[in-house]
Amino acid sequence: MGTFRSIEWVNGVVRMLDQRQLPHKTVYLDYTDCQSVATAIRDMVIRGAPAIGAAAAYGLAVTAARSSADAVAALRAELETAADVLRAARPTAVNLSWAIDRVMARVADPGLASIGAIRTATLEEADTIAAEDVAANKQIGLNALPLIPDPANIIHHCNTGSLATVDYGTALGIIRIAHEHGKKVHAYLDETRPRLQGARLSAWECQQQGIPHTVIVDGASGHLMRTVGVDLCVVGADRVVANGDTANKIGTYNLALAAHAHGVPFYVAAPTSTIDLSISNGAAIEIEERPAREVTHVGETQITPDDTPVANFAFDVTPARYITAIITEVGIAYPPYEESLAALMAKVKA
Ligand code: MRU
Repeated sequence: MGTFRSIEWVNGVVRMLDQRQLPHKTVYLDYTDCQSVATAIRDMVIRGAPAIGAAAAYGLAVTAARSSADAVAALRAELETAADVLRAARPTAVNLSWAIDRVMARVADPGLASIGAIRTATLEEADTIAAEDVAANKQIGLNALPLIPDPANIIHHCNTGSLATVDYGTALGIIRIAHEHGKKVHAYLDETRPRLQGARLSAWECQQQGIPHTVIVDGASGHLMRTVGVDLCVVGADRVVANGDTANKIGTYNLALAAHAHGVPFYVAAPTSTIDLSISNGAAIEIEERPAREVTHVGETQITPDDTPVANFAFDVTPARYITAIITEVGIAYPPYEESLAALMAKVKA
């Protein structure tokens, strides 16, 4: 069982497990201001859509807790500035702005008439976001159970486990819950170039939880489907838009194409905090591009010739037509997604 938390509020500081150093070193870092929380998100000390949402919420909580503002209006203004800083950390995962909007809506409550009340409300909202995330992930796993055959060979991309969320995980959480319910699941973990979230983080989590697993290189999925046999693929999401198009870690689209060619079901697992109905289709999703060094180097070792041109897209968009179903905590959406996602989101608002 995992005994770690990706993020926690501890005695007035935001504590994060430094995911850059896993699996070889378990190092916790403490943050006391929004600027350094934003840098931690950008540098991927913490990563994964739900986890960065929680990090932003706690970034606001720590800003409020440590503010030297002497008037309510000044504290609100300081939080607005902090929200802008945090919002700019990474563009693709909607959970970031979703969490910030949620905390800022709470801060805007005119009933909060003192600095103390704003501080309390900000931290309460961050804690609620964190607690809801854990509950949502567990429910996603339970909702998915009937979809998982026994036994099942499952391809998983990136890391979507406890590390990528506040706890438990989405797609990897589904595999974990199926395993805990006694199903004979075998997780084939895409290594996930260039940051190796699959090889480093998902393998570490599966090892901790005793889930049978095998790391494969990203390009191996088609071969695995043709030779070994794959029952399903399950991936997470950074943003699911109104028509079901889904942004997720680079390589997800290729995996979906291979699954489609082989008739393998391709599931997306995501909490409703990752669903963004304000965007109609995937073409409008902003795709983060990250530094070339992530591609030119593995660790400290340069693998390309000097000055090699690099494109480092951090995410891609899988068109809805390649997605068998989208599994959330409030139910499972099937095509046509315009209708099914809208119906699920109506449940959340109710
Ligand atoms: O760049 P990362 O590591 O933050 O990307 C993570 C992913 O793409 C995950 O699949 C996604 O955020 C869902 S995590 C539950």
